[in-house]
Amino acid sequence: MDNEFLPLPAELASVESLTRDTKLYRIRFIDKDIQDKFSFKPGQFVEISIAGIGEAPISISSPPVINEYFELCIKKVGRLTDKLHTMKAGDRVGIRGPYGNGFSVEQLHRFNLIFIAGGIGLAPLRSLIKTVLSEREKFGSIRIFFGAKEPDEIIFKDDLQEWKQYADVEVTVDKGNENWDGHIGFVSELVERTEVSPHSYAVICGPPSMFGPTVDKLKDKGIEEVNVTVSAERKMQCGVGKCGHCIAGGKVYICLEGPVFTYEKYQEISSFL
Ligand SMILES: Cc1cc2nc3c(=O)[nH]c(=O)nc-3n(C[C@H](O)[C@H](O)[C@H](O)COP(=O)(O)OP(=O)(O)OC[C@H]3O[C@@H](n4cnc5c(N)ncnc54)[C@H](O)[C@@H]3O)c2cc1C
Ligand code: FES
Repeated sequence: MDNEFLPLPAELASVESLTRDTKLYRIRFIDKDIQDKFSFKPGQFVEISIAGIGEAPISISSPPVINEYFELCIKKVGRLTDKLHTMKAGDRVGIRGPYGNGFSVEQLHRFNLIFIAGGIGLAPLRSLIKTVLSEREKFGSIRIFFGAKEPDEIIFKDDLQEWKQYADVEVTVDKGNENWDGHIGFVSELVERTEVSPHSYAVICGPPSMFGPTVDKLKDKGIEEVNVTVSAERKMQCGVGKCGHCIAGGKVYICLEGPVFTYEKYQEISSFL
């Protein structure tokens, strides 16, 4: 029987610095058959591991339509991610997954879409945005709002620029600098000052502190809570419903039932996160 905790060997095909503390890793399984068969949904995550150090859940940042490799955008915050930031193309890692529920792209068909990301929250959203843009005709208008703490922390600058061809893209920073002439303020303020049709669906990824103010602004524009989805990340270990680390409210396994929730469901469990 296959051991679901056994990571499969993979190699870093390329490593690109996005900011001072965030890198984009292009990864492929060593076994070409496994890579060819690897399929996932935007919003799902993998467990990436380094022998002798540990493993961490990381969202897949690339869209499923690409199958020669997948990408992870990783911020350096501790033991495993520090080590990953010293690694280079050709180095080996272990990968298990994909895990979690992911976003339902079909559910978004025909809606006007508003994607709202804060900080590293753009990593999972990038997979969804690229998927939606690859079948652009199935959706109404598309708005992408991204907030970073400061200009130097803006990730995926090239993508944000490219998406302007297909969508309204606005970026804000909490704190500007002498080179920044864009918006300064929280990402929820971008929602506040935008014309939004009530037939819109919003997807929010980022720190939980941005959810409440952002959803309040969406509701002011007539968007119902049932048409708002969030990705709620919680400390996880196994990723497969076995260790109990991610249970919220005594019953919801975030690694299995999440990390993507309707905002309604998120509110039920948020006090336990
Ligand atoms: C479903 C999911 C998807 C994620 N996607 C991404 C992603 O796309 N990119 C990315 O950079 N990070 C992502 N994270 C967070 C990432 O898993 C943690 O940053 C990582 O586990 C830290 O490991 P470490 O050994 O480097 O840090 P540690 O040495 O374990 O800890 C360093 C610091 O990070 C905090 N931390 C540890 N584990 C987590 C965790 N699982 N979630 C949040 N904080 C944690 C600790 O409290 C501590 O403050 C995701 C987390 C989850 C649950
Ligand atoms: S992370 Fe182990 S049960 Fe969810």
